[in-house]
Amino acid sequence: MQIKNFIQTKQDSQKLSDEDINYFIKNLDDFSQDEITQWLKAVKANGLDDDETSALTLAMAKSGNILDWKELEPTVDKHSTGGIGDKITLLFVPLIAAYGINIPKLSGRSLGITGGTIDKLESIPGFKTNLSISEIKEQVKKIGLAVCSTSSDLAPADKKLYSIRDVTDTIDSIPLIASSIMSKKIAVGSKNIILDVKAGSGAFMKTIKDAKLLANKMVNIGKNLNKNIKAVVTDMNEPLGHKIGNALEIKEVIEVLSGKEIDDLTEIVIYLAKETINLINPDEKSKEEKLKHLFLNGSVLKKFEEMVKAQGGNLNIDLPKARYIEVLKSKSDGYIQKLDAQTVGEAVFNLGAGRKSVSDSIDHSVGIVLLKNHGNKVIKDEPLLEIHAKSKEDADKVKEKLLSGIIFGQNPSPKLKLIHEIIK
Ligand code: URA
Repeated sequence: MQIKNFIQTKQDSQKLSDEDINYFIKNLDDFSQDEITQWLKAVKANGLDDDETSALTLAMAKSGNILDWKELEPTVDKHSTGGIGDKITLLFVPLIAAYGINIPKLSGRSLGITGGTIDKLESIPGFKTNLSISEIKEQVKKIGLAVCSTSSDLAPADKKLYSIRDVTDTIDSIPLIASSIMSKKIAVGSKNIILDVKAGSGAFMKTIKDAKLLANKMVNIGKNLNKNIKAVVTDMNEPLGHKIGNALEIKEVIEVLSGKEIDDLTEIVIYLAKETINLINPDEKSKEEKLKHLFLNGSVLKKFEEMVKAQGGNLNIDLPKARYIEVLKSKSDGYIQKLDAQTVGEAVFNLGAGRKSVSDSIDHSVGIVLLKNHGNKVIKDEPLLEIHAKSKEDADKVKEKLLSGIIFGQNPSPKLKLIHEIIK
């Protein structure tokens, strides 16, 4: 098929065959940016069905290396579509390993207002994230877990398409997002995949309806490509936990892992872990009690510490600390009804914790500590949150915006629903 016909087929809302899609991805470098953009725009307008999306996913995965973990099976992979204060991977990975399942996890960096696991881990002095595949295998064989950065030889066609989507207003298309994410999951190669698809103001998908569409599309792709896969749609209207920012989130992870009770954050992690274990062994009973026990008896903390040590990190050296810390006090009385995730995410981004483009550097020390959370009663002048900034000037720039994202009411508000739907 000629590229002209390939584009025209989608512009006419006709179905593309697997062969057509393979031809397009295999020869991507031979087409002009304009031709690729015309096709992306046609997809954005007319969609791709599950067969086409699966073919596109597989073709992009096959454009680079596909890893295999035969000697480590069963293995698990997890993906979050990204959020504010989303430190779930950092709790989930050591929990799964403490349960006895191997988890070689390849993660990304922050982009825009959503944080990235690799940036968070790099705030630990000495922590090495660029492991080779044989180093990952060696480490997972020994201790059951590794978290490291993805490499450029995984799904390179997705990288090329994404960079064109980024400048041609074609990011926002569910089949293109689903195939982009899943091509990397297929390239990473684990048989079992759990997806945490976030919905809300701090997420890529702003509504539960869109998050469900994306989750369904990704689960269908995974099943078509022979994976054990589930997606959980979780809430991202408010930040997760109390700390947002790279080093601050590592600090919260250690606090949660050292804690003696199960809080909201650990509840989501346990839910995801329970569903993951169910993917691997549907007959296994009493998972939830065992998972809680692993948190409370320190086994998950021990796994996290083993991983940090294996990857060269040192938790005895202080994490990066911000030069300027200011406590922001409440200007009103009342119960917190809403702590807007997008507003908090933008403030943390403007303090320097995130990057606009992949080559930007970030400040690991800056961020926000919430001293009050959803539903808490607050009295005027009571401390609401801490701003961790490079300077007073930087802190001043985000204050008003932050306060505008905190909505008070005179009545207690119900607990937030964190888990919306499971898609199998
Ligand atoms: N994340 C991805 O990896 N790809 C997309 O298209 C959107 C978010």
